[in-house]
Amino acid sequence: MIEILQNRVSYPISILSPNSPTNDEWDNIWKCVASAPDYGALLPYRFIVLKCDIFKNTIKQLIKWLSDKYPDSQDKIIKYWNQLMENTDCMVISYTVKKPNKIYSIKDQEYGAISAVTQFYIALNSLGYGTYWISIDDNIQQSLKQCLGIELENTTITGLFPIGTPIKERKKKRPNYNKFVQYK
Ligand SMILES: Cc1cc2nc3c(=O)[nH]c(=O)nc-3n(C[C@H](O)[C@H](O)[C@H](O)COP(=O)(O)O)c2cc1C
Repeated sequence: MIEILQNRVSYPISILSPNSPTNDEWDNIWKCVASAPDYGALLPYRFIVLKCDIFKNTIKQLIKWLSDKYPDSQDKIIKYWNQLMENTDCMVISYTVKKPNKIYSIKDQEYGAISAVTQFYIALNSLGYGTYWISIDDNIQQSLKQCLGIELENTTITGLFPIGTPIKERKKKRPNYNKFVQYK
């Protein structure tokens, strides 16, 4: 376990190949997510797994929204998302649900939701799958929420996570913990 945690990495789209978890593996992944620290048990996180036609249609929509917003970068956008469709066949959308609460602040709900994403990332890595984090800006968030039937108010899309099997190992040099830990 400690080795998995120490070696967790993201796998960029260029080194992923299409393959996604089996139903049993998904069960285990969501059980890992369910153990994320959740102050007040408010369940501030949600995940949507996109596969097959919905996966492809969502990416086609993203290409359209991004090209409309950044017309000068249209070629790059098309190239990037087409590569994503070639190298993966599944993408997970994670979002936070934050409700005003007298005891549990919005910030605490956001932190809880990010903890769930971390559990998700590590569970995927430990089963031999790779992903990386794609964030999207505010107005594309709204379009994507509408397209996927996500409540528009009180939600934020935390990230898009293309899932695949890494075609090669990836090791990363990590910061020395002396840089971020003090014992007093
Ligand atoms: C909140 C957050 C948002 C990110 N958004 C993007 C993104 O939009 N596009 C991208 O290529 N990488 C993005 N990344 C970075 C990668 O997914 C990856 O985490 C980063 O390259 C660090 O690599 P590592 O996870 O192997 O340490 C984001 C990372 C974080 C933590």
